[in-house]
Amino acid sequence: MQAPMGVEMVDGDGLANEAIIAYYEERARGGVGLIITETCAMDYPNGANSRHQLGLSDDSFIVGMTELTSRVHNHGAKIAVQLAHHGKVSRVDKKEGRDILVPSIPEWHGSFSMLADTTPEELGWMAAVNGDGGGKLKEMTTDDILETTDKFAEAARRARDSGFDGIEIHASHGYLISAFLSKQWNTRDDEYGGSIAQRSRFLVEIIEAMRAKVDDEIPVWCRLDAKEYLTPDGIEFADARTTARLAEKAGAAAIHLSAYGDSTSASAFTLGTLPHTEAKHKHLSAQIKADLAIPVIGVGRVNPATAEQMLIDGQADLIAMGRQLLADPELANKLGEGRPADIRPCINCYVCVASPFFDRRVHCAVNPALGNETELATADRDTAPASKNVVVVGGGPAGMEAARIAASRGHNVTLFEASAQLGGALRFAALVYEPNARLLAWLTRQMDNLGVDVRTGTPATPEAIQALSPNDVIVAIGGARETSTLPGATLKHVVDGDDLRKVLTGSGDGDAKKVPLVGRLAANAGRLLGLTADADRLAKLTKLYMPLGKEVTIVGGGLVGIEIAEFLVERGRNVTVIDPGPTMAPEMAHPRRWRVLTDLREHGATLITGATVTSIDSDRVHYQTGNPGNPDNGEPVVADSVPADSVILATGLTGNPTLDKWRTVAGVETTIVGDASGIGYIEGAIHDGFHAGLRLG
Ligand SMILES: Cc1cc2nc3c(=O)[nH]c(=O)nc-3n(C[C@H](O)[C@H](O)[C@H](O)COP(=O)(O)O)c2cc1C
Ligand code: SF4
Repeated sequence: MQAPMGVEMVDGDGLANEAIIAYYEERARGGVGLIITETCAMDYPNGANSRHQLGLSDDSFIVGMTELTSRVHNHGAKIAVQLAHHGKVSRVDKKEGRDILVPSIPEWHGSFSMLADTTPEELGWMAAVNGDGGGKLKEMTTDDILETTDKFAEAARRARDSGFDGIEIHASHGYLISAFLSKQWNTRDDEYGGSIAQRSRFLVEIIEAMRAKVDDEIPVWCRLDAKEYLTPDGIEFADARTTARLAEKAGAAAIHLSAYGDSTSASAFTLGTLPHTEAKHKHLSAQIKADLAIPVIGVGRVNPATAEQMLIDGQADLIAMGRQLLADPELANKLGEGRPADIRPCINCYVCVASPFFDRRVHCAVNPALGNETELATADRDTAPASKNVVVVGGGPAGMEAARIAASRGHNVTLFEASAQLGGALRFAALVYEPNARLLAWLTRQMDNLGVDVRTGTPATPEAIQALSPNDVIVAIGGARETSTLPGATLKHVVDGDDLRKVLTGSGDGDAKKVPLVGRLAANAGRLLGLTADADRLAKLTKLYMPLGKEVTIVGGGLVGIEIAEFLVERGRNVTVIDPGPTMAPEMAHPRRWRVLTDLREHGATLITGATVTSIDSDRVHYQTGNPGNPDNGEPVVADSVPADSVILATGLTGNPTLDKWRTVAGVETTIVGDASGIGYIEGAIHDGFHAGLRLG
């Protein structure tokens, strides 16, 4: 099943448009059995989270929804609509000055622990979408409850009339119904508050009203939270079990078990709604399944292999996947064809889910077609009008993606990679963050599948390129690192990211002089044994051996510095990261940043923001806080230092300084992509490569 995902593709009127239909159609074409739509506002725009979500609040919505269901049905898939009232998270009500319906006026508003790790820019965007147009919280009266129940039932009728095969009631994620289920948000003293049975009453009545309205012609089920993390008096698993039993009794056809947590906390989102740990809630879905006769839907970072095992182990009856189907809409067909290794992996980067926080259309780091299916879905299926000779210089993510698109469209592609292995910057990224290793393996495999002539260990000389008579040349030679002028940067125990990368990934020639000899020997041995070709095995090897001291200070807390910190903490190092900016890893999508920084602190790492490193000596790194570069800012400049027996410089990433000589090669004007022309990390590289491949025709 495709898990419900808000993609913000609707034009601002709640009506299903061509963009969103094409997005769902693409997943149906890819073989998914049952799609659950994004949250659809049953009383749109009242109780809506965004003007760009689907609505079903009057019969005028039926035409678009019917087009949606029939286009999905054409591919043999089923589709259910997820109906929601967003309750306290109804951003549209707040902005447009309407009542915001809640079970009770809350006294607690959250921990707000995410503030420290959110950039000032993101806070501005969040404030803009939550813009206060005067909407005020309103404790629902019994009449409001009955009216809302009726509206849910009316929306169910419209869903049936639109051809939906099922209805999922969104009773999770802090929205209106789940607020009723939670003791924290529901302190009512009438029959809708009190015990969990009474708190479940609103849901039970909605299920019954919907079933009566659709005459049991289509199934109605609900999504529940197994837990409400980091919320005092939040939903406990025992509550969820009771609610699930009551929902079954009221006629729910299934239980979809998700989770939630304090939306203002830095870590609840990746504990509950989008768990960082694979299949985190499978033991809980197993328990609910044991309690009930109706099917249970498991969800939460479930990859295909785990999904299979969960079904075998009786931990769920159905599996819903979200991000994996954003990353590769053809997942189901590929599994059906016995080609799991060809599924483009989700790299768990949270880029997609960051957009809806700011009311922006989703996009995916690894699937550039997401969000623009009308134009791009067939990019790697269409054949170019004429086959060309294409040379790609550089086998990192941008180069490989360009080669993949070009080759899949029928061009003759030759790819030069100067080092011994494909991967470029992605090879190191794969070492420090395991999901990236899956992307590397997938891209490499596509080169084979598509017959790209890959020449590793082969510098792309003008003569070698000329010999191929290219029509087009794509240059993807990666970024560079400026040499640090920091006092102490040349000391023996100071390495930069490139030194480290060369030794750990075997991408260089073993000349990373800063890394102690024993480290180089170990790495060379690993290379000879073939270990450095396999990011996963290499990551394990580095757990046993790492050519770095115990106290490591990382200068620069950007994405790279923070990923290195994560990698080293896992390998038992005491890590300090120092960065001049207000927020660590601003380039990371904020949900991932919140998770990683929380984990780092929990593992004892010291993260110092607003601090400029001034010098490094043999056993300490010296820095100043108070923005010494700006003496007029009124903050006192304070000097301090931290102990360090190894220092990593994770600063100074820039575009490639040798770029000028690559603008024209063998008489052909080139296209420059990826980090070579400006640092864009994996997302930038893949998107650049994709579009360069597509522009070839
Ligand atoms: C971009 C995005 C939007 C989401 N929107 C919704 C939503 O509208 N309704 C909902 O119940 N869950 C929503 N979710 C949560 C997913 O349904 C799913 O439970 C979660 O992503 C975990 O599954 P996954 O790890 O397979 O992605 C969303 C997730 C993502 C990534
Ligand atoms: S953006 Fe990242 S997390 Fe989201 S689907 Fe794509 S790869 Fe996965």
